[in-house]
Amino acid sequence: MELNKLIRENLRKYSAYETGEHPTEDDWVILNTNENPYPPIQDILVDIKSAVNENIRLYPDPTSFELRKEILNVLLRDKDTLTNRNSIFIGSGSDEILDILFKVFIDPGDEVVIFYPTYGLYKVLATLYDAKINEIQLNEDFSIPDTVYSAKGKLMFINSPNDPNGKSFGNATILKICGNFPGIVVVDEAYADFSTQTCLPLLKKAKNLIVYRSFSKSFSLASLRMGFALADANIIKEMNRVKLPHNINYLGQIAALSCIKHHKKIVEQNKKILEERERLTKELNIYNGISVLPSNANFIFIKFEDKSKTLKFVWDLKELKILVRHFSKPGLYNYIRVTIGTEEDNNKFLDAFKIIANKYF
Ligand SMILES: Cc1ncc(COP(=O)(O)O)c(C=O)c1O
Repeated sequence: MELNKLIRENLRKYSAYETGEHPTEDDWVILNTNENPYPPIQDILVDIKSAVNENIRLYPDPTSFELRKEILNVLLRDKDTLTNRNSIFIGSGSDEILDILFKVFIDPGDEVVIFYPTYGLYKVLATLYDAKINEIQLNEDFSIPDTVYSAKGKLMFINSPNDPNGKSFGNATILKICGNFPGIVVVDEAYADFSTQTCLPLLKKAKNLIVYRSFSKSFSLASLRMGFALADANIIKEMNRVKLPHNINYLGQIAALSCIKHHKKIVEQNKKILEERERLTKELNIYNGISVLPSNANFIFIKFEDKSKTLKFVWDLKELKILVRHFSKPGLYNYIRVTIGTEEDNNKFLDAFKIIANKYF
């Protein structure tokens, strides 16, 4: 058997997505994967634990009916967005939603628009599905260049706030893009709960817009894989036709429902992340030689004036058992992305940063 001849042709040029390093020992400070540093609040853990009973022998509700209802009626009640129960789709993490969009819209050779830099999975999936990629370089300040208004394609991906720089795009820009783009504009709001900005209200105006969100970041449920998308009911109908029958596990549905029930407490807990984001930004900006970009997400992006020092910091931090993310990619060599941790973890990071800065600055 020649495996290489049997696998799909485009897998030969395909590079799989690389997740951030994630050691399991307790003594590491993990600030490279943008997880929430706080566990789900106690009430939610109680709800999940009490759902671990004989019912787990049954298949989960394939329509996630209760969850769709609660997201629309409670979680998004004040977001001025779509309210129709056929306008919402639940995914096994927001990454699955992305995969489903490729399944619905992309034939080999179809064009997709992806910005650079942004979340790497858009490009990985575009390659997997053999799409033609039109990569648009963001401006130096990470804003969207005007060339976007003449872009063509079937899908365009906008990440707001954008990973890795953390900045949100304005609704006026997104609406204008929807008006000009002939295909579907997909906005990934995985980190939007860490800011007050959202383009959910635009769904009432733009029929070619899909907005999706995640329970992994602001709701501390990354391991249970829960996400949701809002769009015109006709789009959601097509997404439901291609999804696997039982894509959303039972415990994930229970946990997400519990998060909605206890949403106020979660918002309260996440305030600490926003405060810490301000504190880290302020304390790091004191150093000559680096600057911290303003962030709307649960991470910050630090720019080093001297590119050659960036990796030295990454390596020295790792020596001290602190992981941050560096992207060895054009235009990004002189940045590191740091997830906001607990106050204790952030203090360890700041102390380590000081020691290393004394060495190199
Ligand atoms: C921009 C962005 N979107 C989506 C995801 C994945 O979210 P989920 O866990 O809901 O699949 C990530 C994860 O890091 C991300 O950075």
